[in-house]
Amino acid sequence: MPADTRWFSLDDIEKAAQNTLTKEHADFFAGAAGDESTLRSNRDAFERIRLRPRVLRDVSSRSTGITLLGRHLDTPVIVSPTAFHRLAHPDGEIATARAVAAANTVMIVSMAATTRIEAIGEETERWLQLYLQPDGDFTTALVQRAEKAGYGALVVTVDSPVLGRRERDHRNGFHDLPAGLRCENMVDDAGTLRSIAMDASVTWESVDRLRAVTGLPVLLKGVLHPDDARRAVDHGVAGIVVSNHGGRQLDGTVATIDALPAIAEAVPDGFPLILDGGVRRGIDVVRALALGASAVGIGRPVLWGLAAGGQDGVSQVLDLLRTEVDEALALCGVSRPDHLDPDVIWTGPPTH
Ligand code: FNR
Repeated sequence: MPADTRWFSLDDIEKAAQNTLTKEHADFFAGAAGDESTLRSNRDAFERIRLRPRVLRDVSSRSTGITLLGRHLDTPVIVSPTAFHRLAHPDGEIATARAVAAANTVMIVSMAATTRIEAIGEETERWLQLYLQPDGDFTTALVQRAEKAGYGALVVTVDSPVLGRRERDHRNGFHDLPAGLRCENMVDDAGTLRSIAMDASVTWESVDRLRAVTGLPVLLKGVLHPDDARRAVDHGVAGIVVSNHGGRQLDGTVATIDALPAIAEAVPDGFPLILDGGVRRGIDVVRALALGASAVGIGRPVLWGLAAGGQDGVSQVLDLLRTEVDEALALCGVSRPDHLDPDVIWTGPPTH
């Protein structure tokens, strides 16, 4: 499907996506746990943060590029792991990966992908997200597949000892993928499809054990407390994703942008910190980078792009955000993402 040129914002793409999805699938993508208060606060917290631009600085030569885990990216926006891309569009993860490659950024492939990890474009910088499974041998086998397929890092999601209760899914009776779709990477050597277990017994030692079986950098996703960030550094992790799972796990958590400053304070300078949750505008990216993030991730907008327009839809999401970041940097009087600092954030009394 050709990209729709009437899309001027991620919000437009979200609306277009709603028209292509059944209610139960749209709710699965959009929904969150409990009262969905964390889902709302991720957005509200961004909007509360006001910017304090500088003027009369030559910003005629600009870049939106960053370096993350030693790799140059053209945009500070990466793709957070989300399940079931083929539920959004038949081309699924393959379409997402092509759009990510065109944008020269990173795709974190979900353990709940509906495509085999080997089939997801080699041209893309991709990292594999994992929930550590009670069967350590299964996790290790998947890690070895990722290594062989050229994945650049592992991202262990640590905010899910149990699955958050997403009431929309319960009300809609959405429990299973439709016929023909499955979590392709959960098929074991014997050809048996396993379900993804949320293992409540996972600890820091589990992270150490994973590090011992792989040469890939290991990041932790779902950290909100600065003491956990410090511990992650002590355990040799390569980066942290400051995330509340888009509000889908513990409802009532702090918004990620509010959690970020203390975490940035807790880790060494330059330690890779990715923030996700509610990033919908270039100014949100600027806010996050100014408060200490190295990059941001987007979850739902990628699914909206996929549903609304397949690969082109995801490209539009990434391109729109990159353009908005470029404009926001210029309007803040800053020529590169790594020149942003907290000085651009208003710290006086609320202005509204
Ligand atoms: C997710 N997220 C997620 N996280 C993860 O570690 N593994 C996963 O399989 C999934 N799956 C998933 C499915 C859907 C439908 C959503 C919306 C989210 C969480 C995701 O990585 C990310 O943290 C949030 O989506 C970020 O918030 P925004 O950008 O959606 O507001």
